Amino acid sequence: MQKIIILDFGSQYTQLIARRIRELNTYCEIKPYNKFPAGDPDIIGVILSGSPYSVNDKEALQVDLSQFRGKYPLLGICYGAQYLAKQLGGEVKSVATREYGKAQLVWHDDADLLMHGVHDDSTVWMSHGDSIVSTPDFFKNVGSTADVKNAAFQVEGEQTWGVQFHPEVYHSQDGKIVLANFVNGICGSKSDWTPDSFIESTVSCLRAKLGDDKVVLALSGGVDSTVAAVLLNKAIGKNLTCIFVDNGLLRYKEFESVLENYSQMGLNVIGVDAKDHFYAALKGVTEPEKKRKVIGKGFIDIFDREAKKLTDVKWLAQGTIYPDVIESLSITGMVIKSHHNVGGLPEKMNLKLVEPLRLLFKDEVRRVGRQLGIPQSLIGRHPFPGPGLGVRILGEVTPEKVRILQEADHYYIQGLIDHGLYDQVWQAGTILLPIRSVGVMGDERTYENVIALRAVNSTDGMTATWSHLPHEFLAEVSSRIINKVRGVNRVVYDISSKPPSTIEWE
Ligand code: XMP
Repeated sequence: MQKIIILDFGSQYTQLIARRIRELNTYCEIKPYNKFPAGDPDIIGVILSGSPYSVNDKEALQVDLSQFRGKYPLLGICYGAQYLAKQLGGEVKSVATREYGKAQLVWHDDADLLMHGVHDDSTVWMSHGDSIVSTPDFFKNVGSTADVKNAAFQVEGEQTWGVQFHPEVYHSQDGKIVLANFVNGICGSKSDWTPDSFIESTVSCLRAKLGDDKVVLALSGGVDSTVAAVLLNKAIGKNLTCIFVDNGLLRYKEFESVLENYSQMGLNVIGVDAKDHFYAALKGVTEPEKKRKVIGKGFIDIFDREAKKLTDVKWLAQGTIYPDVIESLSITGMVIKSHHNVGGLPEKMNLKLVEPLRLLFKDEVRRVGRQLGIPQSLIGRHPFPGPGLGVRILGEVTPEKVRILQEADHYYIQGLIDHGLYDQVWQAGTILLPIRSVGVMGDERTYENVIALRAVNSTDGMTATWSHLPHEFLAEVSSRIINKVRGVNRVVYDISSKPPSTIEWE
C-alpha cells in the first residue's frame, strides 16, 4: 500500500495533515521527526510538519534531510518549510509583523505543480512568528502574501516544496487542492485507500495472523469496539467471543438494547451484569481520577474473570484507534484527565494483542463500519466516556443517583432524536450536580437535585463549543425531566466551551 510519511515536529496540526491526506484516499503515517522509516518500499512522499519551536531556537528539532531529500517528493509545512530554507542556505528571522490567521495568497506560476488549480488571492491560514526572509538562488518563489514574500517555494530541479501557510487547516480555502496536488500529482498516489480496500486487506491479514486461534474482545457499545468486533467476526467467525460488561454506569436500558443489537448482527456475545461489583468498589469514592481508576480496575477484574472461563483463548482484541497510538511528540504534553480506561488489561491477561483499527481515525472507523453494514444507530452514536455515568455523577456514585441520571439522560437524548437534533451535535449528555436546590411543587416546598444538560459541537473532542440548542426544545426537555424524574426539581444548560472548560465535568 502506497504511503506518505509525515514527520512530526510537534505541531498541533500534525494529525490534521494526516486526516486530510486520508480524506484523499491515500494512506499516511505520522512518525516522530527523527524516526524516518528508511527502507520502507511503500513510501511515495514525505511531509515535514509545523512545530511550536522556531528554527532558530537552540533546542529546535533537527532532522537529517539526506535521508529523504531528493529521494522522495518532499513538502515542508510552516516550520518544515522554514527548516528546509534554513538548512539549504536561506535565512529565517523573527519578524515584526507576525502572521496569525487568514492571509491572501498570490501565486506566481500557473504551471507550478503544487499550486496548480489554486485560485489567485486564495485565503490561507498562517500561524508563525518567523518568516523566510531570504532564499538561495536555486529556490523558486511560487507564492506570496502581503506580508510574506516566500509564502511558497520550490527547490529548483527537485521535487521539494515548502509552504509557510497551513494547507491542512479548514480556513485555507484551497488547502485541499494543494495537498491533492502534492499527494496525487507529485507523489503519484493512486488513491486506493478506501473503506472497501481496508476491509478486504484487514480481513485477509486477520485470517493469516489468527488462523484457528480463539480471540476475546471487550465490547463497550461504542463505535470502535463494535467495528473491531464485526471485522474480526468476518475474518474468524465463531472463534471470536465478545464480552460486554454492565458496569452499572451505562445509559438507560443500554445494556439490553446493545446486547440485542449485537446478537442481531450475528456476534457471539456474553453479557455480564456486574453492577453490584462496581457500586461496591465506588462506595465513598469522590475524587474524579480515583473514580476513573476504580472503574478501570473493576472492568479489568471482571473481564479477566469472564475470559478465564473460556478455553484456549490466545488473543485479546481491542478497538484501539490511530490517535491513541500515534507516537506524537508531547512537547507541551500534560495530562488534564486520564482517558486510559482499561490500561493494563493486556499485561494482566498474558494474551497476545490484536488491534484491527489501530491505523484508522474515528471518521474512517465510521466509514468502515457503514461499509460493513453496521446499523446507523450504532455507528452514529455520540462518544461516551469509558467510565460512563461515573464521571457525570459529581461526587460519590450510588445506585439511586445512577437511576436519576439515567432517567434524565433518557428524556434528553430521546428528545434530541425526536427533534432531529441528535446528529447535529457532536456529543450530548446530562450531569447530576452534587447540590440540591429549593423548589415548589403544588403547595409543597421541595429540596431536590439539579441536572445539567450539556451538548457540544466539535470535530475531535480536543476543542468544543457549546451547542445553541433551540430554547423551545430546552424548555420542553426541562419540564419533562422535572415532571417525570423523581428527585429532580431544577435543570440548567451548560454554556461553556472547551477550552477553558472540558466536555465532561469530571
Ligand atoms: P474532556 O472532558 O476531556 O472530554 O473534554 C473529551 C472527550 O473525551 C471523553 N472522555 C473520556 N473518554 N474515558 C474515555 O473513554 C475517559 O475517562 C474520558 N473522559 C472524557 C469525553 O466524553 C469527550 O468525548
